[in-house]
Amino acid sequence: MKNEDRAILIDAATQAREHAHAPYSHFCVGAALRANSGRIFTGCNIENSTFGLTICAERVAVFKALSEGERAFDAVAVVADTERLTPPCGACRQILWEFCRDADVVLANLSGQMVIRRMADLLPDAFDSSFIEKSEG
Ligand code: THU
Repeated sequence: MKNEDRAILIDAATQAREHAHAPYSHFCVGAALRANSGRIFTGCNIENSTFGLTICAERVAVFKALSEGERAFDAVAVVADTERLTPPCGACRQILWEFCRDADVVLANLSGQMVIRRMADLLPDAFDSSFIEKSEG
């Protein structure tokens, strides 16, 4: 992806992070997803007092986009205030795989550090719909 597009996506994720509801972990995350249509969807983590109902920034962004009719994405950015760049958790990787398996995954922090990963590297040997289609059950 072009440098300027990457910067726009990181910026969108950084802004979304400002809306994080993280009173329990105090770990604020922002995500931004670029649909093939060009639209950008953002998300932040939203924690819950039950803890288990907490949802990550990445899934909020994906579900917002899906609920508006988008189904394919070519880039996702994840921003957190960590020196070691924060990658999507396992659950988010599985959700992202369904819709963004060819996407660039841009990990960034507030100090301007950035790295690009590929979904296939983050979730090797993934389970997906191809297994269901081939099952005889
Ligand atoms: N979190 C995310 O939103 N995305 C990630 O990639 C890692 C973790 C959130 C979930 C929880 O609110 C907090 O960070 C600590 O795990």
